[in-house]
Amino acid sequence: MKLSGLCFILSTSVLLLLLSAQLAAQQSVHLAIDASRAGAKIDRNLFGQFAENLGHGLYEGIWVGPDSSIPNTRGIRNDVVDALRELKVPNVRWPGGCFADQYHWRKGIGPAAQRPATLNSAWGGVVDSNAFGTDEFMDFIHLIGSEAYVSANVGSGTPQEAAEWLEYMTAAAPTSLAKERAANGHPEAYKVGFLGIGNESWSCGGDMTVDYYLSQLKIYSRFVGNDNPAQTGSNHMLKIAVGPGFPETDWTEAVMKAWQQHDWSWGFDGLSLHWYTVPNGWPPSTPSTGFGVADYGKSLKSTLFMEEFLRNQEAVMDKYDPQKKVALVVDEWGAWHAPLPGTNKDFLVQQNSLRDAILASLNLNIFARHAGRVRMANIAQMINVLQAMILTDKEKMVLTPTYYLFKMYVPFQDAAFVPVVFDAGTYTQGGVTLPRVDALAARDASGRLWVEITNLDPEQPVNIDAAITGINARSARGEALTAPAVDSVNTFAAPGVVVPKPVSASVKDGRLLLTVAPKSVNVIALEP
Ligand code: AHR
Repeated sequence: MKLSGLCFILSTSVLLLLLSAQLAAQQSVHLAIDASRAGAKIDRNLFGQFAENLGHGLYEGIWVGPDSSIPNTRGIRNDVVDALRELKVPNVRWPGGCFADQYHWRKGIGPAAQRPATLNSAWGGVVDSNAFGTDEFMDFIHLIGSEAYVSANVGSGTPQEAAEWLEYMTAAAPTSLAKERAANGHPEAYKVGFLGIGNESWSCGGDMTVDYYLSQLKIYSRFVGNDNPAQTGSNHMLKIAVGPGFPETDWTEAVMKAWQQHDWSWGFDGLSLHWYTVPNGWPPSTPSTGFGVADYGKSLKSTLFMEEFLRNQEAVMDKYDPQKKVALVVDEWGAWHAPLPGTNKDFLVQQNSLRDAILASLNLNIFARHAGRVRMANIAQMINVLQAMILTDKEKMVLTPTYYLFKMYVPFQDAAFVPVVFDAGTYTQGGVTLPRVDALAARDASGRLWVEITNLDPEQPVNIDAAITGINARSARGEALTAPAVDSVNTFAAPGVVVPKPVSASVKDGRLLLTVAPKSVNVIALEP
């Protein structure tokens, strides 16, 4: 044999050895998914959104006005509507947040020129034209195919004001308020699926004690009703009481104890809960861009606290409501980072990176695992505020990594939760130990099995070997969301950095096989 031939054989063998050593070092996770064990419905309302009158969330983000050069429908931006339709947003919470307890709905109806300019004292004291009011909100959710979740002003309003608002929106009979709505362009009664009774009443909503709040809750839930004849029986409007935004359970204990003893005259269907990912505590200080794997790990660790938080609150709810009649409604969640330098700090503007998409997947998976009790959630917030789906700047619009994550999760809406048995393993980086992977599975109405796998580890790929039973899966196809770095973002100039791409997966002899990239979210459809 010539020397060159020998060299070739030797170098190839070394290469093969190195390659197999690397493969052996690659992490593997085994999962077991029995599709015949489909259980609680993953309520589509878990994928709800929150659009508060805050910063450029509504004004500029949604509302540009009918005279704008930005293409719009009756003042609502078309690009934003088209993008949101893709997400099948089940419900939108509006007008707040802290803003809700200072909102007086009458200022936002009727001819735009006659609406008063007010101050948004909750968020920066900026002038609010009130151009985006009740009818514009209803038009917006109609355009995106969603449902209304309105928050009544308990802090600075009255039960009468809230009752009249509901009558304006929902009365079908020819009352004066229904006629006023018709004169404002909408003769048909609106559907209001959800009514929040106050917001964070223990803080910005009036700093109430729980006993004081309960006295208000009883009055509002008694007198603020829905008059739409189409909203009776199982279609009735769900009333949502203020719940905690802190890990302690005494607020929940008091409200649920009162609920257990309630009579016909008052009640509620859901208890709200607010929990943000704020890894360094308040005020939020994590940068939303230009960070490394250490900050990434801290954020994921902080987000995973949601599981413990829900478990503790649920234990109290189970005590007073073992039949799970009252839903837990996580109507504010998401990552709250430091404001982007150069922006108005009261506008809560932040970039949105791959890290945010990954932590959104972890939260959604937690909600789905608690689907028996957690039946609704609203990410904060929809556009230009906090962990947004969409960022806009005048005529420009960019879809964030969190937008794409929500899009990948659309098949899980109303699908039946299927338990996944797996040992996630762990990885440690910068002193933070985290599960290596997370997983979710669900069966949709057509019998398809959907499997989601998040690889939290920013450096190591993971080989997934999932034993699939209860369905004769014949093919697998899927998408992965990942990017070069944990802080990769989409910008107006480069909107395609963090977008889903096809991932290769195979199914053979009842096993789903794929390799998930580091720091990635993967959604696979298994066809029967
Ligand atoms: O989402 C921003 C604010 O956070 C909301 O207005 C308030 O309810 C919460 O404290």
